[in-house]
Amino acid sequence: MKHILVTGGCGFIGSNFVRMALGQLPSSRIVNLDKLTYAGNPENLRDIEDDPRYRLVKGDICDRSLMESLFDEEKIDTVVHFAAESHVDRSITGPDEFIRTNIFGTFTLLDVARSAWGCMPSSPCPQRFLHVSTDEVYGSLGESGAFSETTPYDPRSPYSASKASSDHLASAYFHTYGLPVIITNCSNNYGPYQFPEKLIPLIINNALKGMELPVYGDGGNVRDWLFVEDHCRAILAVLARGRVGETYNIGGSSEKRNIEVVETICDILDEAVGRLPSGMPRRSLIRFVKDRAGHDRRYAIDASKIKAEMGWAPVVTFEQGIRCTVDWYIMNRTWSDAVMDGSYRKYYEEMYGGR
Ligand code: NAD
Ligand code: TYD
Repeated sequence: MKHILVTGGCGFIGSNFVRMALGQLPSSRIVNLDKLTYAGNPENLRDIEDDPRYRLVKGDICDRSLMESLFDEEKIDTVVHFAAESHVDRSITGPDEFIRTNIFGTFTLLDVARSAWGCMPSSPCPQRFLHVSTDEVYGSLGESGAFSETTPYDPRSPYSASKASSDHLASAYFHTYGLPVIITNCSNNYGPYQFPEKLIPLIINNALKGMELPVYGDGGNVRDWLFVEDHCRAILAVLARGRVGETYNIGGSSEKRNIEVVETICDILDEAVGRLPSGMPRRSLIRFVKDRAGHDRRYAIDASKIKAEMGWAPVVTFEQGIRCTVDWYIMNRTWSDAVMDGSYRKYYEEMYGGR
């Protein structure tokens, strides 16, 4: 039986992962350690919370004594580390929490795992520490090319710089102490349970409500979109078959300009719930607004290594995934309304009011 510590399991990707892992790893126990920040929501896992193989612990990855007691009590042998501050715009207006959680928190977790597991360099160690990271550590691409595992790091936002720091620490713990670390760097995810500060759920929710749809700059920035369940399948594959000390890039091979994504969502919604009460199509709500500071132009992932070593490739196309995601937000308006509470409205006003 595996004893898995998932950090940040009440967030977007973490909650999708916990659900999938409980289904696909029947002889595993999952302890979900989550601080339950604005982005962490136990509702995301309401359907599985009574599973005897699952336990939610509210806590902070920076809390060393809590981490030590969890490793000890739960005999943790596998870590899947999602917990992070994850939104670039928030990292621009308030970087402090990103430095604390993403860098100091990851360091704390690595160090506790090192003490608990007692692994040594160059000797095999059965445990696994999977550090979940982002393609944003590689910086911004021009018109062509894609990030591979050997692309030099060039982070350009406080968010990506903090994730790059955590990747370097994870790698250092492998090389120096023999901690069995594997790092994954993934492109932009979308799907159910994503907090509506990120582009796709924000646009869906605004468009459902007939609110303006803010597109930064000229809308020509490109992201490589991956349906969240494909990311979770990749993580399960890496846990099972990944080589320690290695990095695996994960991507959707699905590059889209932001404006294309926004227009697609508008068209799907017009078809699914009808045009706006005025009779206008939802594309009429699109507004080009002031650009994000230091806005990375293009991300694209070369996922040939994970494909060659593990046979992983995305199974959900963007066209399928975006329809499924829009449908989910239509069917789960109460979920969105609950997370878009007073503090969300304050955030929205501060972020978009002056744009
Ligand atoms: P999210 O913001 O939806 O969730 C983050 C979770 O971490 C929340 O549940 C939050 O409560 C928890 N958390 C935050 N600080 C914590 C702390 N100090 N201690 C314990 N828990 C804490 O994020 P997400 O989009 O699900 O991303 C998960 C991970 O995947 C992150 O590490 C992110 O960098 C990485 N990633 C995300 C994407 C993406 O497109 N969303 C792409 C590639 C990689
Ligand atoms: P986001 O979902 O924040 O992810 P990331 O910045 O990590 O890629 O943004 C995706 C893209 O959408 C990015 O180029 C910024 C852009 N964007 C907008 O144009 N408008 C918005 O309101 C948001 C949140 C993002």
